[in-house]
Amino acid sequence: MTTVIGTAKRKVTIRQVQIQANSERYAYLFMRMSGVALLVLAVGHMLIQHVLNSSGNLTLLFVADQWNSWGWRAYDMFLLAFAVAHGLNGLRNVLEDYIHNPNTTKWISRFLVAFGIITIIWAGIGIASFDSEAARAAQEALRQSLGQ
Ligand code: HEM
Repeated sequence: MTTVIGTAKRKVTIRQVQIQANSERYAYLFMRMSGVALLVLAVGHMLIQHVLNSSGNLTLLFVADQWNSWGWRAYDMFLLAFAVAHGLNGLRNVLEDYIHNPNTTKWISRFLVAFGIITIIWAGIGIASFDSEAARAAQEALRQSLGQ
């Protein structure tokens, strides 16, 4: 449908098109949405961990203190999930620019999805099960053994 609005001097043409709902469209939208999420998560992470906090102070004790709070663990899990999914989907886009065999790209996509899910679950368990008290005790034991 084409609708012409306005006078002869200023015309606006509006066309309605039927967009197919397919996985590529959602993958495209995901890259932009996760890009916005990463602007907050990844840039926030860089600023907090490496600018506001001195990099020299980025010790096991610092992580133990930070991960004592479930808010920080949740932040890091979101960062993990969005960065892995965004990076792997981006890698898939790049590979599809060079590999044109549909069967090969299908298997690459399956591999990347499986790799991403395993990585997020594995690292997520690492963040969730991190024992702040044990980390503090280990750091203290190390400090004492070094006579500091
Ligand atoms: C501030 C953080 C980030 C923002 C705002 C951002 C934004 C974006 C956007 C909008 C795209 C789509 C570009 C397009 O299709 O034209 C993209 C692509 C991509 N991003 Fe990110 N990104 C960020 C962080 C990251 C990180 C941390 C990684 C790696 C883990 C990454 C890896 C990629 C890759 C591989 C592509 C595909 C490039 C291509 O299609 O040629 N990005 N990014």
